[in-house]
Amino acid sequence: MTYNHYPKCAIACIWLFANSITVLIAQPAIPMPDTVSGNVIDLTLANSSKQFFNGFNTSTIGYNGSYLGPTIILNKGQEVTMNVHNNLSDTTTTHWHGLHVAPMNDGSPHNPILPGTTWSPGFTVMDNAATYWYHPHLHGKTLNQVLLGAAGLIIVRDPEEEVLTLPRRYGFDDFPLIFQWQHFDAASKQIILDDVADNTTLVNGVVAAPYLNVPAQVVRLRILNASSRRFFEFGFNDNRSFKQITSDDGLLNAAVSMTRLMLGSGERAEILVDFSGQEGNTFFIKQFGSELPAGYPGGDVGMMGGTLGPLDNKDFNLLQFNVVASTSNPVTTMPGALTTNVVYPAAGAANFNVRITGFPMMSQTNFTFNGVQYDPAVINMTTNQNTIMTWTITNQSMMPHPFHIHGNHFYVLSIDGATPPANLRGRKDVVIVPPFGGTVKLITQYLDFGDPDIPYMFHCHILSHEDGGMMGQFIVNPSTTGIQKLENDNKIFAYPNPAQNYINIKLNSAVSIISKVVIVNTMGQTVYSHQFDSAVIQASTQHLINGSYFINVFSGNHVLTQKLVIE
Ligand code: C2O
Ligand code: CU
Ligand code: CU
Repeated sequence: MTYNHYPKCAIACIWLFANSITVLIAQPAIPMPDTVSGNVIDLTLANSSKQFFNGFNTSTIGYNGSYLGPTIILNKGQEVTMNVHNNLSDTTTTHWHGLHVAPMNDGSPHNPILPGTTWSPGFTVMDNAATYWYHPHLHGKTLNQVLLGAAGLIIVRDPEEEVLTLPRRYGFDDFPLIFQWQHFDAASKQIILDDVADNTTLVNGVVAAPYLNVPAQVVRLRILNASSRRFFEFGFNDNRSFKQITSDDGLLNAAVSMTRLMLGSGERAEILVDFSGQEGNTFFIKQFGSELPAGYPGGDVGMMGGTLGPLDNKDFNLLQFNVVASTSNPVTTMPGALTTNVVYPAAGAANFNVRITGFPMMSQTNFTFNGVQYDPAVINMTTNQNTIMTWTITNQSMMPHPFHIHGNHFYVLSIDGATPPANLRGRKDVVIVPPFGGTVKLITQYLDFGDPDIPYMFHCHILSHEDGGMMGQFIVNPSTTGIQKLENDNKIFAYPNPAQNYINIKLNSAVSIISKVVIVNTMGQTVYSHQFDSAVIQASTQHLINGSYFINVFSGNHVLTQKLVIE
């Protein structure tokens, strides 16, 4: 694991001219989260505290620090083992939001990490270059743990993105921006664990419209809405246009010019902003809450009624950009074409219908899918590996819901029957379903990781809704053609076998921890060797030529062997 430190800027004073009154205010710079990379990533989740407001210690939790977590940088095709140490007094999980991993590696409510223990999923990074994130996902505790600070970004790089002329120097022309809404108690400045009356916005954990120095050139902003409930309607104070280059899980076909960007909870977007020739000037990225449709959290309450939070339906500055001297080798041009997204063919796809309703009907807090609340013991839907699925989500409630599916990206086919706008036509994993009968149709296909036992989740990414039961789960059964799960006399449980790019291995005794996996070819040569500390692991077999091998699985002082076929 490599661990890089970026300058944590101190407090700076700037002159701010507001309504022709000159006010001297102390305004903080936002930090760039540290980065971690390599084949082994260590994350420690622990209780901490942070001074968001001078003189007040606010209780928090963070990954490897007091609030939020390091940015994990991964390369497509690499193997990674994540060691997630839980030093909280509570159980937790850590979910790799947007990554295409097996259900057992996903960090869903089915992968609990007990206090004082370490969870070590290992997997191959199969995703396209984009900005993903990680956060806890324990049922009923997600809102609490995320709002207290447990969240971080994942940046995936790949060779296709690498050859485009885009800013990609982290902290210099490529800036991660984690936007959040929080509700701080007025007197104690503690984080209130609800999302009803949020009164503060933060960027990278800093409150009250902090600043960021940006060079006078094209810069890339990787934006995450990590709030529980509220939407952002982003724009600049000078109404400049900017270009969106990615949706949640990958590049768009071409950069999309826009002056406003709406993100619901859990959504990400990378945008390019051209500050060329503007050295010495100051700009703001703003929340245009007054422009959100009525009923969208952060906008007007609309027909939902209920409480208007202190910053709802308002326009205000989120982050100030001070344009400074350009870097060496600046990017000065905006790209056009970026990639070709190939949408799955819809003909003959199996369809899932998901109907969103209030529970009871007029409830403003509790919602269900198809009339049922989440039950960990109930599998709501079942599909098969390789089956193309469309999902038709109909929202019969009075508010929008950011709908999220685990395990794979999807494409949005239509929103209220119409082709989605260009910036929603790339790979996505969260989609906003409009209220009052709004319908979204999406399409996806799970080519890997069939697991008859562990489901993937789908849920509303408004965390209070998710914790309240607006979540379901589906099983992707392993394909029966060619790829089969193989049971081996109560010993090794390895699937698929024959394998192609990876093999999942667990020992049939649930308590056995796998410490090492060694794969040898028929000549006895070691072709794969990797250490683990986990009950379930995934080994990459991408580099193995077709043929027969033996897997040796080490646990304590035992080693178990099984034949493996690579096809
Ligand atoms: Cu970001 Cu299931 O969540
Ligand atoms: Cu997710
Ligand atoms: Cu919801």
